[in-house]
Amino acid sequence: MSKIVFIGGGNMASCLIGGMLANGFSSQDITVSEPNEESRNRMTSTHGVLTTADNNTAVSQADIVVLAVKPQIIAVVAQPLSNALSHGPIIVSIAAGIPVNALQNWLGQGVTIVRAMPNTPAMVQSGATGLFASQSLAAHQKSVIESIFSAVGYACWVGQESLIDAVTAVSGSGPAYFFLIYEAMLKVAQEMGLDSQTSSQLTLHTALGAARLALASDQTPEQLRKQVTSSGGTTQAAIESFQEQDLEAIFRTAMNSALERAKEMSDDFAG
Ligand SMILES: NC(=O)c1ccc[n+]([C@@H]2O[C@H](COP(=O)([O-])OP(=O)(O)OC[C@H]3O[C@@H](n4cnc5c(N)ncnc54)[C@H](OP(=O)(O)O)[C@@H]3O)[C@@H](O)[C@H]2O)c1
Repeated sequence: MSKIVFIGGGNMASCLIGGMLANGFSSQDITVSEPNEESRNRMTSTHGVLTTADNNTAVSQADIVVLAVKPQIIAVVAQPLSNALSHGPIIVSIAAGIPVNALQNWLGQGVTIVRAMPNTPAMVQSGATGLFASQSLAAHQKSVIESIFSAVGYACWVGQESLIDAVTAVSGSGPAYFFLIYEAMLKVAQEMGLDSQTSSQLTLHTALGAARLALASDQTPEQLRKQVTSSGGTTQAAIESFQEQDLEAIFRTAMNSALERAKEMSDDFAG
């Protein structure tokens, strides 16, 4: 089994480890390196994994190192690790907006980097993660990395680093788009006379049901929509209103704003 070391034992590390343990990883193959004693104790009591406060020793024994610290401190955390990587572990960075070349400047030019962009529904094992590898990985390495992220939802590889910015604009920021739609539907449902609990449950179960139906079907979203839309009916009245206001253009502008911001953030770090 691969030895996996997490640098940083915060929310995302805890969520990934919880999923990994539920999906057949052994707690004895996972080490969390974390300066905060309280966080280390929480990792031991919650997950039974090994812990240490010594990043370099932990990394020197790892096959895979998951960098799970905030982007603001990643340079300070990564630079000292460069001396402990001569055995060639793969570095998986989940830090948003930190490009491969910045990580290689800190860790060493030959180091294999995987950038992962998970999203917050990973907290309830329903995440969506995009992965990019700086160079081709052996099949077993690819499979272990995939299984870390598929333990908390869906995971897929993209072939170019720039596509991680697109993943950020689609699924990284995406939960907030749906929360915004949820907020709007909730307000309008209440204006129509439904109480808050009923409005919330009807909206959320509709979102969940629509996603499940689409996942289970081989039909296009347009076909699925047309099945709910009988001519002259209620759905058609609402859809026509969305289309008159060009909902697609609203999404295109918003998602391109997210994409541009992701690129700017990466450019700030690129060497
Ligand atoms: N949360 C999400 O949904 C999400 C989604 C996509 C990507 N990400 C990425 O995931 C990363 C982690 O996010 P998070 O929400 O898990 O953050 P977090 O809860 O703040 O976890 C970071 C952990 O790293 C620890 N740490 C600080 N300095 C360290 C050092 N020198 N060595 C080792 N550990 C150190 C922190 O300890 P202290 O608390 O003592 O400082 C903290 O426990 C971020 O880069 C973020 O961009 C998160």
